[in-house]
Amino acid sequence: MEAAKSNLVTEMERDFVPSATLATFASERREPTVGGVPVRVSEDLVDWGVYGLEPSDPRARPFVLLRTQIMATAQRMKARCIAVTSPKAGEGKSYVAANLATAISRVADVCLVDLHLRRPVVAEWFDLPAKGGTAGVLGGRQSMAEGYYRVEGERLGIIPVGLLQEDASMLVSLGTVDTLVEQLRGLPGEPLCILDCPPVLENDDMLQIARHVDAIILIAEEGKTTQGDLGESARLLRPTPVLGTLLNRSIVPAAFPS
Ligand SMILES: Nc1ncnc2c1ncn2[C@@H]1O[C@H](COP(=O)(O)OP(=O)(O)O)[C@@H](O)[C@H]1O
Ligand SMILES: [Mg+2]
Repeated sequence: MEAAKSNLVTEMERDFVPSATLATFASERREPTVGGVPVRVSEDLVDWGVYGLEPSDPRARPFVLLRTQIMATAQRMKARCIAVTSPKAGEGKSYVAANLATAISRVADVCLVDLHLRRPVVAEWFDLPAKGGTAGVLGGRQSMAEGYYRVEGERLGIIPVGLLQEDASMLVSLGTVDTLVEQLRGLPGEPLCILDCPPVLENDDMLQIARHVDAIILIAEEGKTTQGDLGESARLLRPTPVLGTLLNRSIVPAAFPS
């Protein structure tokens, strides 16, 4: 039992590069430039565990600090498309991606993109219509513009998965991820794109995606993710740089004491 326990990830790996202050990267612009079909902020967002649009909510605080680190590192690396992934299901990929994107949207243009075709959550969390989205782009049925939403009054673009007409396993391996990422790079306002991705170890979807993004945030869940799975994931994702490894469910007490 003890041996098994010691294999679990238990400490925050502080490999983010803390550097310049947020002010360096936050512009004074107030009007969103991210384009897209305007949608209202979902009233259920906080119930889904997304706090980034609620700056006074203490649960948003870890993501405000995380955004500083991510924006600084992305700026230094000239990274525009950042994938959020983890070894296995249910470790907090969508939670971190949605909270990080909403936190960033308070100070900069950002786009949250759902690329977990087999288990998408973004449309439900943000209460978006079931049309357009990454499935249509990957399937060659639609352009990005058709499934691109913008939260009214925020600098937050969102691209959900949309209607899945094809086999999800086929879509990612079709080799069209590069086209999708190219379209993300061409979005108006040049937002930082945060991609809510599939896990690394379940199938090869994430390995296909990793080849086309600029950088990766690797999530581990305290008491659940094993060191072995984390190490194997980091190995499989090479050579795409891992911006940092984040220990979920210990973010507040361990990394960001209030
Ligand atoms: N640190 C956290 N605090 C509270 N709820 C969390 C946390 N991390 C994840 N969750 C919740 O746990 C569930 C699974 O997380 P999710 O991000 O959907 O996992 P994944 O995308 O890795 O499959 C979701 O309901 C999410 O809101
Ligand atoms: Mg998810």
